[in-house]
Amino acid sequence: MRHSVSELLTGRRAQHCPFEPATELTALREQTGLPTIPRYHPFFGQFDARAVTRYDDVHAVFAHERVAADMNADPDAPRTLFNQPGFLLGYDGPEHARLRRMLAGAFTVRRLQGMRPSIERIVADRLDAMHASGPVVDLVEAYALPIPSLVICELLGVPYTDRADFQHRSAILLDATRTEQEQFANYAAMHTYMAELVARLRAEPGDGVLGEVITKHGDEITDEELIGFGTLLLIAGHETTSNMIALGTLALLRNPEQLAAVRDDPELTTPAIEELLRYLSIVSYLDRRATTDLDVNGHRITAGEWLSLSVLAANHDPAIAGANAGLDVHRKPVPHLAFGFGVHQCLGRQLARIELKAALPALLRRFPALRLAVPFEQIEFRAFSPIQGVTSLPVTW
Ligand code: HEM
Repeated sequence: MRHSVSELLTGRRAQHCPFEPATELTALREQTGLPTIPRYHPFFGQFDARAVTRYDDVHAVFAHERVAADMNADPDAPRTLFNQPGFLLGYDGPEHARLRRMLAGAFTVRRLQGMRPSIERIVADRLDAMHASGPVVDLVEAYALPIPSLVICELLGVPYTDRADFQHRSAILLDATRTEQEQFANYAAMHTYMAELVARLRAEPGDGVLGEVITKHGDEITDEELIGFGTLLLIAGHETTSNMIALGTLALLRNPEQLAAVRDDPELTTPAIEELLRYLSIVSYLDRRATTDLDVNGHRITAGEWLSLSVLAANHDPAIAGANAGLDVHRKPVPHLAFGFGVHQCLGRQLARIELKAALPALLRRFPALRLAVPFEQIEFRAFSPIQGVTSLPVTW
């Protein structure tokens, strides 16, 4: 049986607009309490979850110390990404804090600022390449995917020639229609790739993020944990940012006046990127589990219950977005939850912002007549992923 993300209410998008929450999801947000919904997961099968959809509730659950992100209820389960040591999203408490501290130490403001010139060079090179291969290109292939891929390769010290392989593997990982066997095989291949990289870096750390962790904490961290770090960064670093570049462009193409404003006014870059992050909420939903009986904003939750947090519904809640939650690049930035919140809040958010600020306005300025090369209705959205995206985006200028 094929399960699609659109079956999951907390990530469901509107029929009339693939960026906005479905009316069923908005209706769920208006119900009192935390309604129970069915949830399917390729590794964990079918289970019930409490839907958390209002901004205040999603924020409070993210912040609650008795709510776990970890999916590893069964200690004997076979190794997957979710129970891979070092894969921060699968850890909680002191173990998560210990690992996160080591990795965060390598994501310094100095390193990120130092990457800005090379990110701008990558952007300029991709724009030249795109111009040369036009006048019709697939924006995903030509621009949205290569930029974060090149950045993450540089960050990790991974050869760029390996990108096709890891792009393919992370796409499988996020494809909820793949069977369990396919997922296990895919995961094993990713693990082998990372194990080879970690062995090389142990011998010669270099100046990438993993190399810095080895130099500073080499005795405190195992190879398996380093493999988990590398895999997490590879996936988290390019799937999300590439979808933000492609969907951000598409959302602006659908709103030509706002596109022109962002193109012509550099002052709008920061608020526009924050607004696109909020509006698109490309990480549509996230899972959590209660470790004890607890009370969140007056809602009783029983130990062991699953919670399905709708980032999408929360970011479109009138409580933060006002009566009109549509795209408005002039909106004063609001404290959206597109990067999550609490101890697992996105470690790469400042890097993502640098990439988006470099990539989006530069594209609009280089191609002021940028437009879709196919009718909007023909654009295929990735239906089978918790991360919203398009499979391709044909554009011309
Ligand atoms: C626009 C782009 C991005 C978005 C929307 C995004 C979104 C998110 C979200 C929502 C989480 C929290 C997950 C949870 O609470 O379960 C997260 C975690 C994470 N992200 Fe990002 N991310 C982006 C880019 C990046 C980049 C560029 C990197 C690194 C190069 C990165 C690295 C991470 C890591 C390591 C975590 C796990 C943190 C932890 O569990 O402690 N992300 N991201």
